[in-house]
Amino acid sequence: MSLEVKGLYAGYDRSLVIQGIDAIFSEGRVNIILGPNGSGKSTLLKTMAKVLLPRAGTIRLFNKDLQNLSLKEIAKLIAYLPQRSNNVPRMTVFESILLGRKPYFTFGPGNGDLEIVNSIIEELKLRGFENKFVDELSGGELQKVLLARCLAQTPKVLLLDEPINHLDPKNQIEILEIIKTTTYRVNLITLLVLHDLNLALRYGDELFFMKDGKLLWKGFTSEVISEVIEMVFEVEGELAEFSNQRLFIISSYSTPSEKRVPKAL
Ligand SMILES: Nc1ncnc2c1ncn2[C@@H]1O[C@H](COP(=O)(O)OP(=O)(O)OP(=O)(O)O)[C@@H](O)[C@H]1O
Ligand SMILES: [Mg+2]
Repeated sequence: MSLEVKGLYAGYDRSLVIQGIDAIFSEGRVNIILGPNGSGKSTLLKTMAKVLLPRAGTIRLFNKDLQNLSLKEIAKLIAYLPQRSNNVPRMTVFESILLGRKPYFTFGPGNGDLEIVNSIIEELKLRGFENKFVDELSGGELQKVLLARCLAQTPKVLLLDEPINHLDPKNQIEILEIIKTTTYRVNLITLLVLHDLNLALRYGDELFFMKDGKLLWKGFTSEVISEVIEMVFEVEGELAEFSNQRLFIISSYSTPSEKRVPKAL
């Protein structure tokens, strides 16, 4: 079971951003999308969340075309955390997380919904924040609440656009651990957009490198070679190993004069 993107083209009124993407995102894996600013990562996620309609191509979830699913069905299946959450409406942290359960209730939340919200509050260490207003939170606290709402949706697909933005180092690791554990435990299809290469190397099962609206390289994290990273980000550096973790160390950011084409491409 997977989320399958075929021949996808998408963009905005005057620009075509996503230019022919084919990819399969598998269940029970942390899939990480990487790429330079403006390469189309957020546009790809928006299209998969059905916030943006594709110009061409298909997106199939569990063999069903996303176009044929109602918004209510999508709200139960797909949780989407946008890169920017402007104008968060004034409500408490508890109410904001409970919104994630809305696709499941008709008149009001049941005990099951409240239990789910409470366990996520516990898991994300948001206890004590329940009655605060979301527009009075710090950037990192708000980010955690918005992620908590996504988890409260109990989706099959998690689309998280830079979920660790605004978080301090400890919170970054804590949140990525929670995302990873949840992905494995409930067999989620998880897609994260991350800018931190080293966290991507540490937490990603599969990596998807984008540039100029195209997918340049995809594969298991263990298979990525430094040439891929150098070409995608136009930097020079090398992959090193430290304490059983692979790290990419940038040595210079000049474009290599001789463009090397990775064998894996
Ligand atoms: N709402 C919009 N209307 C018109 N063009 C847009 C819109 N949003 C993004 N774009 C353009 O689409 C291109 C891809 O943007 P996108 O946000 O997908 O990039 P990204 O890879 O997520 O970048 P970043 O790492 O900076 O978040 C950019 O050139 C951007 O200017
Ligand atoms: Mg983006």
